[in-house]
Amino acid sequence: MKYFIVTYGCQMNVHESEKIAGILENLGYECANEREEADIIVFNTCAIREGAEDRVFGNVGNLKKQKKKNKDLIVAVCGCMTQKSQTAQRLLNTFPFVDIVIGTFNLPKLGYYIEAVKKGRQLEILEEGDIDESLPYKRTSGENAWVNIMQGCNNFCTYCIVPYVRGREKSRKPENILQEIRDTLASGKYNKITLLGQNVNSYGKDIEGGMNFAQLLREICKIEGDFTVSFMTSHPKDLTDDVIDAIADEDKVEKYIHLPAQSGNNRVLKLMNRSYSREKYLEIIRKIREKIPNCRITSDFIVGFPTETEEEFKDTLSLVEEVKYDSIFAFMYSPREGTVASKMDGQLDDKTKHDRVNRLLNLEKRLQKEEGKK
Ligand code: SAH
Ligand code: SF4
Ligand code: F3S
Repeated sequence: MKYFIVTYGCQMNVHESEKIAGILENLGYECANEREEADIIVFNTCAIREGAEDRVFGNVGNLKKQKKKNKDLIVAVCGCMTQKSQTAQRLLNTFPFVDIVIGTFNLPKLGYYIEAVKKGRQLEILEEGDIDESLPYKRTSGENAWVNIMQGCNNFCTYCIVPYVRGREKSRKPENILQEIRDTLASGKYNKITLLGQNVNSYGKDIEGGMNFAQLLREICKIEGDFTVSFMTSHPKDLTDDVIDAIADEDKVEKYIHLPAQSGNNRVLKLMNRSYSREKYLEIIRKIREKIPNCRITSDFIVGFPTETEEEFKDTLSLVEEVKYDSIFAFMYSPREGTVASKMDGQLDDKTKHDRVNRLLNLEKRLQKEEGKK
């Protein structure tokens, strides 16, 4: 019996697919090279923007023929998109050949659903769940090993669906993280550790007497061996001096920070509930450049947030020009049902969003060229 996993979304999901693979291999499945030869296909979905969800609907729809040929094929959809019960139900109603629809907290029970499918279609969305330390995983990212340090998010940026589909912040115990890294390095197959969390800088705040993120980084660097450590994602409001110092001091920590600014305008940042100003953000960038001279810095930006004016968008352009990032990701604002921003007056039209995203990307291209010449 063979499995095939289709993954959407962020690195967190990529790593979660490694856990899905681990669970399936424990059940006796082998990895299929192509979708066509699979006995079970799992879609691990993302809900961050509408486009991500549309792609899932399109690609799941394409399975109709394969299911007709192979009546025993099991089709499962899980992840952030199906954590929303309305979307889960819509998926089940639209595609009669989908067998299992579960949310982000149901993963430890995947084996149970596969067994239960004999009795009928399975739909279950758990509201919350603890981190399951016992889940097996099969690493698939070459010499890089993803290591989850926390799950969930408490920030509730007004545009973002993540806190609704991943629950509140929960940190893993430092000893479990350190043990996982020791075991991973001991296998001799990995030379890069990437720590994952929606907001790694608030690591440990929910564990009494635990470590903060800077302490965790330093502890990881004490592990013997030839390896580097990087992490994502940092939230500017929590990127404290001790973290910057740890990156600067520790040779094993990669000199790289992904520090999403989202906007360069203070009114928009406030509406986004980002809890920092343009000035505070630039202050952090200045500190990073001062303490870590060769640090690579990248960022995410959202254009066309509700009520964003042309002048306010230009503040984003000027921030990008000022910081001189190594690269940026630019996204058109996509309203997500249930979030605060989706209910705001002053939603912008698609043409304005397209226009702004193109201008931001063109600026980025121009700056890259100029940097290249230097
Ligand atoms: N936890 C990380 C990343 C979350 S999602 C952080 O806080 O930065 C990755 C990126 O997707 C975000 O940085 C943001 O730029 C973008 N994003 C999130 N919600 C979005 C939405 N509704 N529309 C467009 N882009 C969005
Ligand atoms: Fe979303 Fe904000 Fe949390 Fe990042 S910090 S996951 S953008 S709510
Ligand atoms: Fe998408 Fe979920 Fe990641 S919404 S970006 S897969 S946490």
